[in-house]
Amino acid sequence: MTILLLGSGGREHALAFKLLQSPKCNTLFVAPGNAGTAAIASNIQINPTDFQAIKDFVIQQKVEMVVVGPEDPLVLGIYDFFKHDSELSHIPVIGPSKIGAQLEGSKEFAKEFLIKHKIPTAAYDSFTAETVEKGCAFLETLQPPYVLKADGLAAGKGVLILQDLDEAKEELRNMLVHAKFGNASAKVVIEEFLDGIELSCFVLTDGKNYKVLPNAKDYKRIGDGDTGLNTGGMGAVSPVPFADNILLEKIETRIVKPTVEGLQKDGIEYKGFVFIGLIIVKGEPMVIEYNVRMGDPETEVVMPRIQTDLVELFQAVAHQELDKIDLEVDPRSATTVMLVSGGYPEDYGKGFEISGLENIEGSLLFHAGTKLENGKVVTNGGRVLAMTSFGDDFRQAIKKSYQNIDRLHFDKMYFRKDIGRDLL
Ligand code: AMP
Ligand code: GLY
Repeated sequence: MTILLLGSGGREHALAFKLLQSPKCNTLFVAPGNAGTAAIASNIQINPTDFQAIKDFVIQQKVEMVVVGPEDPLVLGIYDFFKHDSELSHIPVIGPSKIGAQLEGSKEFAKEFLIKHKIPTAAYDSFTAETVEKGCAFLETLQPPYVLKADGLAAGKGVLILQDLDEAKEELRNMLVHAKFGNASAKVVIEEFLDGIELSCFVLTDGKNYKVLPNAKDYKRIGDGDTGLNTGGMGAVSPVPFADNILLEKIETRIVKPTVEGLQKDGIEYKGFVFIGLIIVKGEPMVIEYNVRMGDPETEVVMPRIQTDLVELFQAVAHQELDKIDLEVDPRSATTVMLVSGGYPEDYGKGFEISGLENIEGSLLFHAGTKLENGKVVTNGGRVLAMTSFGDDFRQAIKKSYQNIDRLHFDKMYFRKDIGRDLL
C-alpha cells in the first residue's frame, strides 16, 4: 500500500524504517522528512498542519494510510478532518481524534480524565488570570518543590519546577497574567511534586483493544548527570532494567487498562499511540503526563525492538482488530544517543556538514535535524542524529553507540556521555 507519514524528526525516520520493513508497504512518502527519510522514502515538501495540501496530495497519489508522527496535526484535528471529508473518510489516520488529542493538548483535560477514571496521578488544581491569587494561596498549602504546568502545548517547555515559594508565585503570575508561554499558559495546572524515577510507557490502541509496546527511559537534560536545561530528549534505553514484571503488571492494570476503558466510556475515538509519562514513587506508578504520539528519542529504541509487521499493526488499529494480532518484541536491549548541535536547546547554528556517515558499523543511525544540500548531508536542527544500537544488555548496546559516534563529525557536535549510567 501507499502510506504517508507526517513529521521530520528522528521519530519519523525510525517509523519510516519500521514501515518499510513491511512487505505491505510499497510506497512511503514522508512530509516533510529529513535527509535520513530521503534516503529510504520519498520526502514531500508539505507542512504536516496544512490539511488542505495533505488532502490534495493524498487524493493525487492515492495514499491509503496516514501515519501522524508529531502532536500538532493531531491537536489541530487531522483525524476529524479525514473522517468528515467524503473523499478522505475511507483512509485510516493513525492517531487520535481531536478530542482524544486533548490528552496532550490540555494538561487540565488530562488531569480531569485521570481523576475521573481513578488513574493514579499527582494532586492538582488549575487556575486562570482571574484566579491567580487563589493559585498563590494554593501554592502556600503545598510543600516545595512547586510544579507549574502551562495547560496548552508549549513545545515541551511549559513545565516549571521551582524550589522557592515566592519564585513560584512570580512565575505563576508570569504565566497567567503576562502570557509567559503565550496562550498555552492562559490556564496553569499546579501539581503536587512526585519524587521518584521516570519511565515512559507506550501503548498502541484501536480504541477498544491495546498492545503495550516496549518501555523506555529518556534522558531529558542537556548535561551529564542530568544537569542543565531541559531538552526534547538526549538519549534513551529500552527496556528499562528496573521495570520488572511486578511493576509492569501494576502499570497495565492500574494505568493502561483504565486509560483505554476511559476513552471508550467517554466516547473518545482513539486509534493511535498513547505515550504515558510515569513517575514510580516507592514502587507505585503515577501518571505525570499523556502524549498522543510516540516519544522522541524513545521511538528510536522502541521501533527497532518491535518485530511484528508495523503496517499489519496499523491495519488492525484501523479495523479495531488489535486483539487478533500478537506483538513480538526483540528481547535484546536497545539504546540511542542523540547528537545535537552545540548551543542546543538554546541558540545553535545550522548547515554544518556531517562527515563519517558511511563509517557506521553495526548501529542504526536515525536522522533528526538533517537535510540534503548540494548532495551533502548537513545539520538542520538542534537535535541532529540518533545513534541506536542493540546489545544483550544495555551496557553492550550503549558501548556500540558510543563507538560509532566516534566515527562521526560535524562542527560543534555535542552529546551526553552518560546515557544509561544511572541504570548501572
Ligand atoms: P511534562 O511536560 O509533563 O512531561 O513534564 C516535564 C518534566 O517535568 C517531566 O519529565 C518530569 O521530569 C517533571 N515533572 C512533571 N510533573 C511532575 C511532578 N508532578 N512531579 C515531579 N516532576 C514532574
Ligand atoms: N522524549 C520526550 C518526548 O518525546 O516528549
